[in-house]
Amino acid sequence: MGSIIKNSKFTLTGTDKIENPPSMGVYIHIPFCIKKCRYCDFFSLPLRDESYLDKYTQALINEIKVRGQKMPAVQLESIYLGGGTPSLLNGWQLKSILQTVTNEFALLPGAEVSLEANPATLDEVKLAELEEAGINRISLGVQSFFDDELTLLGRIHNSRAVMETIEMLHSRSWENFNLDLIYGLPGQSVDKWIQSLKQAVDCNPSHLSIYLLQLEEETPMGKDVADGRLKMLDEDDEWYMFDQAMEYLEGKDFEHYEISNFCRPGYECRHNLRYWQAEEYLGMGAGAVSFINGSRYINEPQLKNYVDSLLVGKPWPVQELEDMSGRELMIDALILGLRLCAGIDLEQFKQRFGVDITSEYKEIIAYYRNRELLNIVNGHLRFTKVGYFLSNQVLCQFIE
Ligand SMILES: C[S@@+](CC[C@H](N)C(=O)[O-])C[C@H]1O[C@@H](n2cnc3c(N)ncnc32)[C@H](O)[C@@H]1O
Ligand code: SF4
Repeated sequence: MGSIIKNSKFTLTGTDKIENPPSMGVYIHIPFCIKKCRYCDFFSLPLRDESYLDKYTQALINEIKVRGQKMPAVQLESIYLGGGTPSLLNGWQLKSILQTVTNEFALLPGAEVSLEANPATLDEVKLAELEEAGINRISLGVQSFFDDELTLLGRIHNSRAVMETIEMLHSRSWENFNLDLIYGLPGQSVDKWIQSLKQAVDCNPSHLSIYLLQLEEETPMGKDVADGRLKMLDEDDEWYMFDQAMEYLEGKDFEHYEISNFCRPGYECRHNLRYWQAEEYLGMGAGAVSFINGSRYINEPQLKNYVDSLLVGKPWPVQELEDMSGRELMIDALILGLRLCAGIDLEQFKQRFGVDITSEYKEIIAYYRNRELLNIVNGHLRFTKVGYFLSNQVLCQFIE
């Protein structure tokens, strides 16, 4: 295993059995895509040789076994296969990975088992394989229902493929699925964005994620903008798109539970809630991050090193990103918790971290309450609607 050794019930290497096993979420990273999209800088590589997926699966299984032996007393509330494009895995690969996870860790009854999927990678056979492997939630990367926008984004599917995929989900009785959409595309009108959103709602998903396009400098789209071939929208347009989306989704009885996330009652993504509630999670696969016992670790994003090491039973590259102090943990929980629309329960927070946020951050809170970006309602500190949109600017103040 990697070079990190810490002495605690929750270390990545500790072997003590625990009386009351804590709950945990497992994240599994599959760093492959058919082709990179023009805007995306996630750790994923174009898949050149399909047989490499077998090797990666074996390496991952070896990591899961090592982790399982080192942390036996953990109960899983959620498993999340993310990427990249985990839906590139075939039925056998998915089944072996999930079976290893459930053999090594105790999966709680009713645990959420999610998989991120690109519409171009799903068909009836693949869906049957996902069902057999135990996946019970799908997150589909739709991004837009307009072909010109999908081309601009460099997606490998058109809107017809999206609709066919969603029809297949319905015909196979999948009810717990999310659709990802991106807004704020260069040249996008508010009207076109809302048309995409309406079409998404008409597909009757249990969950919707709407992301403002983040321009990443090193991507082809980032270079197009830097060289003047594309122009980003201005902030007022982006805000109007977000505001209109909130209003529309509210009218359709979607619950807005996190800045970018909306769901039908009871269909929050339980795995992602762990992140926002600053709970622990174990990440496996190249590039995956873990948060355990107040530290963040990353399996370094070095694919070859990760696979080659694990296939011969050698330590793979793990790096401790932060061994966080009590104060850092508190600030982290504050920043993550504010992303939730329910905000932060001030009393609970005080019990957990021994800090009264309202006195510790009196000036910042007063400043942003005056500007109607933050609010205190029923003992909860939370963003206003405009606050969601400007959340990064406010959160920076808490960090500083
Ligand atoms: C790992 S991908 C989802 C699954 C699959 N890879 C796909 O794209 O179909 C996670 C989501 O992140 C979002 N995303 C990625 N890069 C982004 C960016 N630069 N700006 C906004 N959203 C982005 C996309 O909506 C994407 O669906
Ligand atoms: S958005 Fe999804 S499919 Fe596109 S490159 Fe990123 S991870 Fe791959």
